Amino acid sequence: MKKILKRIGVAVGAVIVLGLGALLYIGMSDIPSYETEAIDFQAERSPAAIARGKKLVLMLCVNCHLNRETGKLTGKRVLDAPPEFGEIYAPNITQDRKYGIGDWTDAELLYLLRTGIKKDGQYAPPYMPKFPTMADEDLNAVIAFLRSNDPMVTAASIPDTPSAPSFLTKLLCRVAFKPFPMPTAPIPLPDTNNLVELGAYLAHNLDCFSCHSADFATNNYLNPRRSKGYFAGGNKTFDEQGRVKRTPNLTPDKETGIGNWTAEEFINAVKYGIVKDGPALTYPMMPYVHLTDREAGAIFAYLQTIPPIKNKVERTVYE
Ligand code: HEC
Ligand code: HEC
Repeated sequence: MKKILKRIGVAVGAVIVLGLGALLYIGMSDIPSYETEAIDFQAERSPAAIARGKKLVLMLCVNCHLNRETGKLTGKRVLDAPPEFGEIYAPNITQDRKYGIGDWTDAELLYLLRTGIKKDGQYAPPYMPKFPTMADEDLNAVIAFLRSNDPMVTAASIPDTPSAPSFLTKLLCRVAFKPFPMPTAPIPLPDTNNLVELGAYLAHNLDCFSCHSADFATNNYLNPRRSKGYFAGGNKTFDEQGRVKRTPNLTPDKETGIGNWTAEEFINAVKYGIVKDGPALTYPMMPYVHLTDREAGAIFAYLQTIPPIKNKVERTVYE
């Protein structure tokens, strides 16, 4: 009997030591790296592509990468990253060869934006968004803009502040967040004559669903409609002071969602932050002034077609 107990004791001890060893290993190691695939891609840099790319970058990247002091994409502290992720800084993505992305190829940029794997193979944690379902033409436009002569992206030799990702971030990047596969077939733009189809594309690729569903951790980025609580809100986001702000329900439920809204009310909220009965919308809900009324209206038309979900989210307004 004693012998058995002793063996069990040794086994339990071994498991604890191995467990602690694994934790220590994750804590001391870095975010994981992956093999990179060499892909063939050169952005087509027409003036139209650059203009389209600027509009996308203004909606999708400036929140984190635009530094208000330099007026350029030289990076800054990401204030709305959940504090449990650590202290996070978005890097310089101007064309500077030393501090920016001047020495990245178009293909390396495309590979990162699709999969989340950086030039050196390291995975970019969840606070850097990925674009696995965006149309090829839109990603081409983003890259064309990053390579353009626009003052927002021309070289600025400002060094990055290194991020300090927490243990949790490192752990999640080993067990939960993995790179997305590189698409194997072309991804076309939606049919812009079809309002609902255009709206679905924008609602998914401008990241509306990502904030407005139940939780970042249960979002399905490859197939957004399969996200938990798809567009029913309640997700925990943070304002610029790091205070929690739950996202509203955008499903067509008449009581708790936007089933009673008109297209015009929706457009005013999305483009200008104006809501009919309450103070203006604030960070992290940015005014999407660059959307045309037709585009914002298309998102509304699409949202009216999705399943209504009853989920009451109280609006948090801080003084
Ligand atoms: C929510 C904040 C956020 C948004 C929005 C965002 N990024 Fe990032 N980005 C980051 C952070 C943080 C990193 C650093 C990731 C890491 O530590 O690996 C990063 C890394 C990068 C890098 C790698 C740079 C390097 O030197 O390693 C590129 C390129 C990049 N982002 C481009 C973009 C583009 C283009 C967009 C818009 C389409 C965008 N990012 C939107 C936060 C963001
Ligand atoms: C970074 C997270 C985030 C993203 C991305 C985002 N939202 Fe929001 N949204 C919020 C938050 C938080 C609020 C509440 C803001 C407040 O209370 O001041 C909000 C509020 C709204 C409201 C007001 C709803 C109401 O009941 O008052 C609408 C409409 C809306 N968002 C639509 C959109 C659309 C459309 C997109 C994409 C183009 C989008 N949001 C992208 C976080 C986000």
